Amino acid sequence: MKKSLGILAGIVLITLSGSVFADEQLAIGKKIYDRAFGRGCGTCHDIASNPQLSALIKAGQLDRAQFEKVLKEGKGGMPKAIAEIMKNAAVVKAGYGEDQAVDALYKYLGGE
Ligand code: HEC
Repeated sequence: MKKSLGILAGIVLITLSGSVFADEQLAIGKKIYDRAFGRGCGTCHDIASNPQLSALIKAGQLDRAQFEKVLKEGKGGMPKAIAEIMKNAAVVKAGYGEDQAVDALYKYLGGE
């Protein structure tokens, strides 16, 4: 009985830490989206004539690799954003590397 309770507690802990991690990731993604370039990605991307990131990602039209490439290289009117993302206070505080920061932003926008 004691042993199975211990195992149960272990499973609960593992499950909880997984969801805490996912929540933290989404919160950091949101902070990047809201604060990059001072006023956030939405300054441009919430305007209908610019790419609608969340809709594109959810429709499978903007994969993780393309997303990262545009952030690193820029594209037309889209400024390079990776340095701006890495400066974000939430990213610095969490100690995220580039991959982790891009993951957090991509997931916040609805990606896998
Ligand atoms: C100054 C305005 C501006 C800001 C700020 C901005 N973007 Fe963009 N972004 C654009 C424009 C304009 C395009 C379309 C570029 C093109 O296709 O020529 C674009 C394109 C993109 C694309 C490529 C979409 C596709 O379908 O290929 C991604 C990804 C992207 N932006 C992500 C972001 C993220 C994430 C942020 C915040 C970190 C951000 N952008 C901030 C203007 C902006």
